[in-house]
Amino acid sequence: MSHENIQTARDGGVLTVTIDRPERKNALTGAMYTALTEALHEAENNPEIRVTVVEGNGGLFTSGNDIADFMSTPPAGPDSPVLVFLLALIDAKKPLVGKVRGPAIGIGTTMLLHMDLCYADETARFQMPFVPLGLCPEGASSLLLPRAMGFAQATDLLMFGEKFDADTAVARGVITEKVSSSELDARVQERANKIASLAPASVRATKELLRGPLRERTREVLLQEGAMFIERVTSEEAAEAFGAFFEKRAPDFSRFS
Ligand code: COA
Repeated sequence: MSHENIQTARDGGVLTVTIDRPERKNALTGAMYTALTEALHEAENNPEIRVTVVEGNGGLFTSGNDIADFMSTPPAGPDSPVLVFLLALIDAKKPLVGKVRGPAIGIGTTMLLHMDLCYADETARFQMPFVPLGLCPEGASSLLLPRAMGFAQATDLLMFGEKFDADTAVARGVITEKVSSSELDARVQERANKIASLAPASVRATKELLRGPLRERTREVLLQEGAMFIERVTSEEAAEAFGAFFEKRAPDFSRFS
């Protein structure tokens, strides 16, 4: 399950998966989603692993899907690496813990909705800029965000796609706890070790009781969003937004109806 941009390391019952592509702000490519999926499968299948921590290297979590990849190989259907990865998150039976520093953009935020616990520091910046990019919600965020915070707050985050910090993320139920930067690693390690020390079947049962009732609906919404996303990602609106990103200018949607 090795990939140059996805590192894995096991320490006792804790598997740590690190997104490591700092030169592209940890943007995720198809091959990186596949490596992440393999890491999740390893965690599920290896009885020695009790909990998985997902983090980013270089002071940031991830800038989301690689925008060049969006243009060259847009997700094509349920078998696309990004959807396979999200389905693996939804299906995970063992606990997942997110650790966020710096930007967590697009899927960098929506993947956290499938994690059981998430800790972030004062540098964390969450953002779901789907509408600003001419896209639509993904990762079952249109289902899970209103459930966490109600429609008014979820619409605010999804329609405007603006950045928000760890305080807002805690207040709206996106993450568990804000921790100071100097203490974040130790806090996540302590929490992960604690989970690894708990009765494993009891931990899995608790996760199943929390997540099980909504799992099938989450899968359905994920695939519905995915179908709409595929239309949007090849749209003229998205082409304008992607071009604007690489040309470092604001997009102009005034010609669209
Ligand atoms: N896909 C592809 N390339 C990306 C990327 C992404 N998601 N995010 C950053 N990069 C590239 C930039 O194009 C830039 O390349 P360059 O050096 O050739 O110009 C390089 O990574 C550094 O990014 P830059 O924007 O200069 O860094 P920054 O520190 O000013 O800003 C971010 C960092 C993450 C806030 C900013 O890069 C960003 O907003 N990225 C896009 C996020 C996004 O919209 N993701 C899609 C969500 S659906």
